[in-house]
Amino acid sequence: MDLDFKMLEQLTQIFGPSGSEELVSEFISTQLRPYCDELQTDTLGNLIVVRHGTGKKIMVAAHMDEIGLMITHIDKDGFLRFTPLGGVHIRNLVGQRVKFRNGRVGTIGIEKLEKITDLKLEKLYLDIGVLSREEAEQVVHIGEMAVFVGDFVELESRIIAKALDDRIGCFVAMEALKRTRSTHELAFVFTVQEEIGTRGAKTAAYAIEPDLAIAVDVTASGDTPKSHVMAVKLGSGVGIKVFDRSMITSPQIKRWMAAIASEQKIPFQWEVLEYGGTDSGAIHLSRGGVPSGVLSIPTRYLHTPAEIVDKQDIEAAVELLVALLEQVTEL
Ligand code: CO
Ligand code: ZN
Repeated sequence: MDLDFKMLEQLTQIFGPSGSEELVSEFISTQLRPYCDELQTDTLGNLIVVRHGTGKKIMVAAHMDEIGLMITHIDKDGFLRFTPLGGVHIRNLVGQRVKFRNGRVGTIGIEKLEKITDLKLEKLYLDIGVLSREEAEQVVHIGEMAVFVGDFVELESRIIAKALDDRIGCFVAMEALKRTRSTHELAFVFTVQEEIGTRGAKTAAYAIEPDLAIAVDVTASGDTPKSHVMAVKLGSGVGIKVFDRSMITSPQIKRWMAAIASEQKIPFQWEVLEYGGTDSGAIHLSRGGVPSGVLSIPTRYLHTPAEIVDKQDIEAAVELLVALLEQVTEL
């Protein structure tokens, strides 16, 4: 399969923290315009890409937002304090570079610690290379957001980048829309504000009223030294979600996904995630309930500037999504 990893590179490098996904939305719109009938942006900022058809109305969801930081305070010497936007792990922040929408880069520094257990958010600050509050205020303001800096690197079988959560899901959805010959009514939704509680998916699902929904998002893996025990491995195929804190997948959806994967000889693995959730968590509870599933991309070092995914898993995810959209289950 010929996947456009140059496009994935561009996608990962775009600035798009929760609540400020416009640049990601613009990029996806430009890419998908030739492959759809309608493009809409709703009140919250979700990008809804529609391809008309008959039969079932299927919603595919991938979130555009990435985790980040928001500036809360600027001191007299121009050092910034911040609050996390999404699931930021404090231990991953020290020494990292972050970038604002205007391109300004800063380093996260840390106050002197007596012992490592004193490591708390309050001990961290952001240094944007200025000498005073006045100078800082010319560059950033209170409430402004920053995201990780993390180059895109394509290796033999793997990819390293920032924001693969969930630009890889956006990429899989985009590549599937380009390839699908499904005759169903398709609404590909590139959602906002997933990382702070699946807010975009909530309003989009209510408005669209889908008959069926599939979210594409990352999941963790259990294949690194002394990692948390988990059956998911990079390179072993696309994950079919069974469980996370936001949803328990119904037996019909699991059977349908696994049957199509087996029939098409697409490698897959059952995914049980003991924490976290996805857009499907919000979608399946919309109105009277929506039959929903999740295709998961196994990812190492989630919510860091250097997440790692496997190219074969990406390929399997695109293939399975294409096949599912063409062979919809009777529910
Ligand atoms: Co995430
Ligand atoms: Zn995600």
